[in-house]
This record gives sequence, structure tokens and C-alpha cells, in this order.
Amino acid sequence: MLIKRPKDVKPSEITPLGIYRRRREFVATAGVLALGAVSGMGTKPAIAQDGAKLKGFGKSKFSTTEKANAIKDVSGYVNYYEFGTDKTDPPQYAKKLKTQPWTVVVEGAVKKPRTFGIEELMKMQMEERIYRLRCVEAWSMVIPWIGFEFNKLANLVEPTGNAKFVEFHTALQPDNMPGVRLPVLDWPYIEGLRIDEAMNPLTILSMGMYDEVLPNQNGAPVRLVVPWKYGFKSGKSIVKIRFVEKQPRTAWEKANPQEYGFYSNVNPDVDHPRWSQKTEKRLPAFFANHKTQLFNGYSEQVASLYTGMDLRKNY
Ligand code: MTE
Repeated sequence: MLIKRPKDVKPSEITPLGIYRRRREFVATAGVLALGAVSGMGTKPAIAQDGAKLKGFGKSKFSTTEKANAIKDVSGYVNYYEFGTDKTDPPQYAKKLKTQPWTVVVEGAVKKPRTFGIEELMKMQMEERIYRLRCVEAWSMVIPWIGFEFNKLANLVEPTGNAKFVEFHTALQPDNMPGVRLPVLDWPYIEGLRIDEAMNPLTILSMGMYDEVLPNQNGAPVRLVVPWKYGFKSGKSIVKIRFVEKQPRTAWEKANPQEYGFYSNVNPDVDHPRWSQKTEKRLPAFFANHKTQLFNGYSEQVASLYTGMDLRKNY
């Protein structure tokens, strides 16, 4: 993003996940989560006893049929700037992220503000969504997430007519996040969506991937996934969700408004000021091997959200 350009990335930077897995910690965290998940489910999840597994969720009709990446691509090559700006920093340092206990405050222009414990979120009907993720840096992956539609949570708190946008505040744990010692971004990392974007069925809150609870570096214990937008719109480790009237000022927009707009829809016809967005490399490829598609290939579901808007101005 701000610091690395796609051409600077060497395959050697893609670090095998095995090195970074913290099995014991992982299991300890997941134990509580999985217990919660077993009880409230409408479908019958087969969750392994060790708690780290989140298996048996039905596959959503919104899943792509493209081949998913290997988990090592997804967990070994990561943007999570609170843990450093290098792709291999978060797998190394996100061990320290404290994910227990965890709550998500939902407030603002809603009739029923509420604080959700992570266990409660895990009980909400979940499914597997295999989505393409296209990063603004012109690489992409295909990732099987486990989660539920954001609109389910929104409907529980009942947004009022003043809720025009949704702000997502992510965790700030200065003692555990070496990256926030540097003013790379205005911490905490805040992202935002227009309310109709947030309520679109493609927008999910995810708590797992590849049949397991989310690794810390991928945004444990709960993150957003918005597959038609550049990856940075998908905030990790969410602690607060605010329904607001005014368009939020997001972390990347504050840092560099010329390069990172509020909308950030994947668009091959709108170049990043420093590089083209026409193609992408599907990791672990070294060179571009895919044509980038408008809205990352999700036009059928989301193009109507932008009817009449100039996508060059609203980049
Ligand atoms: N969320 C937080 N809190 N901090 C970050 O630095 N990076 C974003 C996004 N969410 C980021 C974040 C960027 S740039 C991308 S591409 C995606 O997370 C990457 O998600 P993944 O590493 O799980 O694929």
C-alpha cells in the first residue's frame, strides 16, 4: 500500500504458515468460540473437539468455483499494519494480539444498541463463502471464509433512518502491536461503507477460514470481508461498529486521499496513481496472470449500488 509496490514482492517473502502456527494458543482461543458455535446453529456443524476446527458449514451460493489458495499463501503473506508493514511481520508478531475476552460494541443511529460477546457472534448462522480477495497492490487470492452476512447483525440493532454509513473500528492494543508505535496510519484503523453496501448480502463478518478459527494475522477474532472492494476495506479484529449519518473518514483516506478513496471498488479502468489496476497476480504467482474484473467479478450483485455514479471521481 503506502510502502511496498507489487513489483517489490519476492516469492521468498511468502513465508510458510507452518512456521507461524501457534497451535496451543490457537486451540485455547478457539475452545470457547467453538462451544458457542455449536449451540445456536440452525445447520449442524461438525466442530472438532479440540476446538480449533470449524467444520461442516454449508457452502454459500455466493461462493466462487475458482480454486482456493493454499492456507499458507493467505496466512503467510499478510497486510496487518498494526503488526508491521512487511508482509511477513503480522504472521510473526500477531501472536501477541489478545483475542480473549472480546466484545464488539454496536452503536450510533440504531434503535437497539448492543454489545456482542464474540461467543454470541459465533452462534449466529454461519456458512462458508469462497471469495476472491483483490488487494490494491495488484495481487489476489481466493479464500474460503466462514462467517455470516453483516445484515443479520444490523437487523438485530435496527438502524434508524439516520444511518447512512457504517464505521468499523478495529482493535488498538499498543502493548501488543509493534506497528502502532509508528505513525504510518492514524490508529486505530477505521474503515467504512455506505449503508446499502454494508447491507448487501456479499458483505460478511468472518470468524474463520479454511475450517478453522481465524489466525490472528488474518483478523481474529472477527473481521469484515467486502469482496468487490480492494482488500483494505476489509477491516481486521473489529471492536466497534457505528451506524452514522456522515461518510466516515477512513484510515487510508486520511493517510493518502489521492491514492485511497472511500469507495475503493475494484476497477481495472481506474489506475492507482502509481500503478495500473488492469491485471493482478494470483498468489503465489510472481507475475500478473489474471485480468482484473470490474467489482472483482461481483458486478451482478453490486453494480446497481453505483448506478449514475462516476466511478472515476468516486474511486
Ligand atoms: N485491517 C487492519 N486492522 N489493519 C490492516 O493493516 N490491512 C488491510 C485489510 N484489513 C489491514 C486490515 C489490507 S491492505 C488487506 S489487503 C486485507 O486486510 C488483507 O487481508 P488478509 O491478509 O487476511 O488477506
